[in-house]
Amino acid sequence: MVDSSNSQDPLIGTNIQRSNQQVLRLEQRNDDIENIEIKLLLEGVYLHYGFDFRHYAPASIKRRIWHCVREEKLNSISALQERLLYNSACMERFLLILSINVTALFRDVGFYRVFREKIVPRLRTYPFIRIWHAGCSSGEEVYSLAILLQEEGLYDRVRLYATDMNEVILARARDGIYPLEKMMAYEKNYRSAGGKKALTDYYTAQYGRAIFHGNLKKNIVWSQHNLVTDGSFNEFHVILCRNVLIYFDQSLQERVHKLLYNSLITFGMLGLGQMESIRFSPCEANYGAIDSLEKWYSKIR
Ligand SMILES: C[S@@+](CC[C@H](N)C(=O)[O-])C[C@H]1O[C@@H](n2cnc3c(N)ncnc32)[C@H](O)[C@@H]1O
Repeated sequence: MVDSSNSQDPLIGTNIQRSNQQVLRLEQRNDDIENIEIKLLLEGVYLHYGFDFRHYAPASIKRRIWHCVREEKLNSISALQERLLYNSACMERFLLILSINVTALFRDVGFYRVFREKIVPRLRTYPFIRIWHAGCSSGEEVYSLAILLQEEGLYDRVRLYATDMNEVILARARDGIYPLEKMMAYEKNYRSAGGKKALTDYYTAQYGRAIFHGNLKKNIVWSQHNLVTDGSFNEFHVILCRNVLIYFDQSLQERVHKLLYNSLITFGMLGLGQMESIRFSPCEANYGAIDSLEKWYSKIR
C-alpha cells in the first residue's frame, strides 16, 4: 500500500488516498470471493460425502484448504472443489489434511498423572467401566490409558471405545504400530506420567517399529464416529475428548459439549485438552472441577 503521510500537494494526497481505497476495496472483494469459494466447497463436501466441516474454526479451515490446494498442485479453491467432488481419492487426502492427527503417547504427562491419582480411585468403585476416547487419532492416547489401567489392575473391568471421524487414521490406531524412533521420547513421557514399569514391556521392537502387545488391545473397540453428525451411543464413566474442540467454532463446540454431557453417567468424568475448557459452554454449571489445571471435570448434575 502507498504511504500518503508525507505528501505536501493536497491533490496528490487525495489521489493517493483514492488509490489506497481502491486497493482496500479490491482486497475486500477478493476476501469475499474466497469466503464464497470456501462455503461452496464445504457445502459440496457435506452434500456429497456427508463430512460436515461447515462449523470448523474459519481461520484454521482456510489454512488447511489452501494447504490442500498447494498439495494438489491447483491454483484455486474452486478447482479443488471440482476435484474433490469427482475424485474420492482426493477426498481421502483432503480428510487427512483437515483432520490434523497430531498426537503422542502420554501427551501432557500431568493429565495422566491426575488420571492415576484422582480418577482411578473413583473408578475402583465401579464393577464395570466404560471409557470413550472421542477423536482418538492414531491411537497413542488410547494405548496410554490401556497401559495405565493395566498397571492399576483395572483393565479387565474396562471397555475402551475409541472413535475418530477418519477411517484411515483409525486403521493405523487399530494396528498399534509406531515408529521405534519415537519411543525414546514416549518412554520419558511414560515415566514422568507415573509409569510403574518400562514402556518396552508393552511392545515388541521389529524392523524399526514398535508393535503393541495384543493383550493391550483386547478391551478396545475401534469405531468411526463423527462428533458433528453422529449422536450419543452409550453412557460412559469417563470421556476423553482432547485437542478436538479447538478446531470447532463456538456453535459447534456448544453442540459437542451437549453431546459429551449427555453421554456421561452422573458423576462421570470428562478430560479435555490443555487449550480447552468447559467454561462458557452451555453445560458449565453441570460440572465440578476435579483438576482445572489438567482439565479434568466431573458431571455433578
Ligand atoms: C489433534 S488430534 C487429537 C488426538 C488426541 N485426542 C490427542 O489429544 O492427542 C484431533 C483428532 O480429532 C479428529 N476429529 C476432528 N474432527 C472430528 C469430528 N468431527 N469427529 C470425530 N473426530 C474428529 C481428527 O480426525 C483427529 O484425529
